[in-house]
Amino acid sequence: MKIDIVSVFPEYFEVMNLSLMGKAQAKGLLEIKAHNLRDWTHDVHHSVDDTPVGGGAGMVMKPEVWSECLDELLGFSRPSAATANTDTETATDAVDTSDPGDPAAPNSSALSGTPVLIFPNPSAPLFTQRDATELSHADHLLFGCGRYEGYDARIPDYYRSQGVDVREYSIGDYVLNGGEVAVSVMLEAITRLMPGFMGNPDSIVEESYTGEGALLEHRQYTKPAVWRGISVPEVLLSGNHGKVDRFRRDEALTRTNEIRPDLIEALDCKALDKADRKTLMALGWEVSATHPRKLDR
Ligand code: ADE
Repeated sequence: MKIDIVSVFPEYFEVMNLSLMGKAQAKGLLEIKAHNLRDWTHDVHHSVDDTPVGGGAGMVMKPEVWSECLDELLGFSRPSAATANTDTETATDAVDTSDPGDPAAPNSSALSGTPVLIFPNPSAPLFTQRDATELSHADHLLFGCGRYEGYDARIPDYYRSQGVDVREYSIGDYVLNGGEVAVSVMLEAITRLMPGFMGNPDSIVEESYTGEGALLEHRQYTKPAVWRGISVPEVLLSGNHGKVDRFRRDEALTRTNEIRPDLIEALDCKALDKADRKTLMALGWEVSATHPRKLDR
């Protein structure tokens, strides 16, 4: 997978040479290049931002610098001078703001051969494991890191209108200083799902947020069996795999009920076995409809 990252702080991504991400690059599974957006500026100050049209605090990243950079990295030929300087009315008319990549129906094969352009943005839909799974099948990801008050909204609109699969994602309900941390988070979530990335791919199958019936993962223990007077749950030492599996599944259901009841509500009742239903009913859920429903609300 080829990964280009555009940022005003490309050095931030030197950490990508460490750990599993570094190994994946050494193996040739990943090719990560961080570019400095300022390399596409032409003024002495290498400015990438300007004041917001309509007023307001802060600065907004300029579309012209981004478009020179993205055109080059996407392999687009530069628009003619007439198109580049066209008045905004004509340009806006041409923009198709529909989203070609429907995140509700990920189709991994649709991603091979076409670059996906991704902008982290605190005001965008939340990035989920489902998105990470879909994007782990892409050949080329191009991330654009915004700073300041963000980037000119016409940038994603324009590239969508040119047929590029453009995504905007938030990594959580909080505001960061820029997109760099968000890109690191998304990249790690995506690349670890690539075949050959993890030493033991089985560990991915059992994780939280994996698969259709996403639950928080059960808790984990290692040896010694008693540490500072605290024992691991006895059943885990029993050697009875059936009982261990049931204990872990019940713990996953119980923790998810406490911490993320929204994930229980999203479960498909048809996919629950008899023991799951019993556990959920004991936790106050009704499980006879399509999805579980909390009774004591
Ligand atoms: N940029 C600033 N805050 C962000 C967030 N929460 N998610 C993605 N990008 C951001």
